[in-house]
Amino acid sequence: MALKSESFKLIEEGKARVMVPVIKDESFPPRRSPVFYNPAMKFDRDLSVCLLNSLLNGGEVLDPLCGTGIRGIRYVLETPLEKGILNDVSPMAFRVSRRNVELNSLSEKLSVRRRDANALMHCIVESGRRIDAVDVDPYGSPVKYISSATRVLRRRGILMITCTDTSSLMGTYPRVSLRRYSCWIPRTEFREELACRALVQFVIREGAKQDVFLKPIFSYVGKHYLRAFFCLESGARKVDKALKMVDFLDYDPKSGRTSLGEGRIGPIWLGPLFSKEHLKIALDWIESKGEYLGIKVKGFIKAALLEENDPPFYYDLHLLHSRFKGRCPAMGELIEKLRENGFRASRTLFSPTGIRTDCEIDELKRIWRAISHR
Ligand SMILES: C[S@@+](CC[C@H](N)C(=O)[O-])C[C@H]1O[C@@H](n2cnc3c(N)ncnc32)[C@H](O)[C@@H]1O
Repeated sequence: MALKSESFKLIEEGKARVMVPVIKDESFPPRRSPVFYNPAMKFDRDLSVCLLNSLLNGGEVLDPLCGTGIRGIRYVLETPLEKGILNDVSPMAFRVSRRNVELNSLSEKLSVRRRDANALMHCIVESGRRIDAVDVDPYGSPVKYISSATRVLRRRGILMITCTDTSSLMGTYPRVSLRRYSCWIPRTEFREELACRALVQFVIREGAKQDVFLKPIFSYVGKHYLRAFFCLESGARKVDKALKMVDFLDYDPKSGRTSLGEGRIGPIWLGPLFSKEHLKIALDWIESKGEYLGIKVKGFIKAALLEENDPPFYYDLHLLHSRFKGRCPAMGELIEKLRENGFRASRTLFSPTGIRTDCEIDELKRIWRAISHR
């Protein structure tokens, strides 16, 4: 079947030119689109290009749920990854991806398949081949692809995961999070970070079953999605050490008090979510070679570098105000006061009103009162 030209248009994204569907349907995800392409995910693809440049020196990519093929195509054009495989179970996505590979003169470097993603990954494993970077970008939850994506990755390979199943991970449906992620997640004031830590926990435990540590490199929350990057490290000792950082959390919404290692929220990953070492390399890359990606990606990486990497979780400024009353200080003012009092404090990428600090809630109340009752 040929692609009807009136249903598609040619766009440029990064260094790629791709045919994408013309969408008239207002619903999201569009019900009648011949193949899925989301322009709102351009930022995420830009960021992935930038991070891959800081993480890899070459190799092969697998885009097992590729839609138009935009991710795999961009990775081969814009990162050290030299070749790879695009795959989508949809016949139309398969045809569009094949056309897009030709459009970018990548037929020698990218093969296109039409298989179920898990079946393809198992087949690659069976052939003895291993992949350097796998990008799992499904509709909804990625849980059913993590085990085969882990199997297909080589040592030091990079796993990228998108999850649009945000409602169950952000506490709207704790029973669903328990069922899908083996994790009890109620509503909290730090729901974005808790969602990432629940997803990271799931991925680490899936890796542990295969005696590998999927080391978290970077995680963040976008509009309607979570995204996480991991580097596969082997060694049972590393896995055992990592599993010690998977634990429960207690949280009292009234006082805002959190306690790690107790309670019934979780289990979640309590270790670092960011590798500042890689973020610094990513920033150097963007400043030397990646300016074409624009200021948004650069600003995002800079903000991540300014954020304290621990402790886990943040306080929400508006909730602090409703707890402590008085004048609500500006974010910057409160952060400065916390630092003056010897605490670590920063903004967080997870929420524009979140403050990450190692200051306990009672001490925070004292500092708040000193500011707001002056
Ligand atoms: C969110 S879209 C991918 C978007 C694309 N990665 C991008 O950045 O534009 C998910 C894709 O997965 C495909 N898909 C769904 N189930 C699949 C399966 N079991 N195996 C392979 N592809 C599948 C769908 O046809 C759809 O194109």
